[in-house]
Amino acid sequence: MSVTCIFGMQWGDEGKGRMVDLLAAASDVVVRYQGGANAGHTVIVGEEKYVLHMLPSGVIQPDTVNVIANGVVIDPWVLMQEVDELTERDIDLRGRLWISDRAHVVMPYHRRMDEAMEKLRGKAAIGTTSRGIGPTYGDKAMREGIRTADLLRPDRFVDRLRANMLARNEILERAGLEPMDIDADVETTRQIAERIKPFVTDTTTLLLDAWEQGKRILLEGAQGFALDVDHGSYPFVTSSSTGPSGVPAGTGLPPKAIDRVLGVVKAYTTRVGAGPFPTRDEGDAGRQLAEQGHEFGATTGRPRDCGWFDAVVARRAARTQGVDRLAIMKLDVLSGLPELKIGVAYELDGQRLEAPPAHAADWLACRPVYETWPGWQEDLTGVRRFEDLPQAARDYVARLQEIVGIPIGMISVGAERGQFIETTDGVPVPA
Ligand code: GDP
Ligand code: IMO
Ligand code: MG
Repeated sequence: MSVTCIFGMQWGDEGKGRMVDLLAAASDVVVRYQGGANAGHTVIVGEEKYVLHMLPSGVIQPDTVNVIANGVVIDPWVLMQEVDELTERDIDLRGRLWISDRAHVVMPYHRRMDEAMEKLRGKAAIGTTSRGIGPTYGDKAMREGIRTADLLRPDRFVDRLRANMLARNEILERAGLEPMDIDADVETTRQIAERIKPFVTDTTTLLLDAWEQGKRILLEGAQGFALDVDHGSYPFVTSSSTGPSGVPAGTGLPPKAIDRVLGVVKAYTTRVGAGPFPTRDEGDAGRQLAEQGHEFGATTGRPRDCGWFDAVVARRAARTQGVDRLAIMKLDVLSGLPELKIGVAYELDGQRLEAPPAHAADWLACRPVYETWPGWQEDLTGVRRFEDLPQAARDYVARLQEIVGIPIGMISVGAERGQFIETTDGVPVPA
């Protein structure tokens, strides 16, 4: 099994960074294939905490090569800040970080457009991370984007940059926002282009060569399935294909290159930003989950809404993305809750739904059909074997496995590297 894809099956923040760090120890190349600095992936190693937005979460493991492939929208300022911060922490990325010459660049005007468009949306705002993601992918589709290859040829991109900024300044004015200083942005762009130059390469060739040589490649998804631009709760989504279906387009590896798909889910659900979330709990349980799970956004610091496991979303993610194994994260957070609920289906206008509806208004109106399971009091953070979990915790995860229909490969019981239970052949479902 040389090519593994890890992706989030919910609304993001499932614990992908922690999983990637773990599996990166046995990988040669770690690859981001979509999204941008909207991601916030946390890796905790002993006393050290790393929150990565642009860099793949493999960078902490010293023997990995890390690739930001063509499908990512690269914010070169955030990228270089992360590179500098890691250099200060004695992690040297020279010779083991490569960014695609075909990736689209998030320019300062994309961030300003993100802000303006959210303001113009008013009550219908998406609650984006303000990282310029939508406008950059929009320009890519409109064929007005600026790619890293363009940045390396300032003679060619400056005219396009000026034209793009002039047009955007008109939109800013309409939103009642300050226009941009075009000359200043042209200058800072020239400077950042010089800094990223040593890292830019044809990552498609790099990845194809690595694959053909049988190197172990780990693909790191950002965001999650319910934020997927096609399959998620549109329009309350991000602008990319978040699962393995985004890999071929976002890397240049052929679809058949993916050997194994690991779907990451929290043992409950969280969401930041607006839009449908049928299993949200606005009572004591939701507050307890937020508190015990420290549920604050790794990118924006916004509090995450919390609720119960949504099997409708997880099943859809598993079936469309071909999940082989589940990684269940943050099981430890559920300790102390008197009872646990699992949303097994939705109800809309008296009808039972097994899959999410197409329209956001319908998805918003869906009521979850719950099953209730007994909780447990024990602290799980020291448990390393499935047999040592309290019976109620075993029953709960076995039910998750059954209802999603995919065997569990690992259960995480803490944010640190060693805090997990491995169940390579899946957790047996009790009769
Ligand atoms: P990502 O975006 O999917 O990488 O996830 P985030 O890093 O945004 O959010 C996951 C948070 O949960 C981080 O703060 C992790 O350190 C933390 N975390 C990951 N796994 C576990 C776990 O099993 N238990 C606990 N308590 N925390 C975890
Ligand atoms: P990771 O990789 C959670 C959400 C935003 C908003 C919507 C659109 O850490 O799981 P965007 O800025 O992408 O246009 O915002 O998507 N969102 C995330 N939520 N985790 C993320 O990344 C997210 N990236 C975007 O809150 O609802
Ligand atoms: Mg995150």
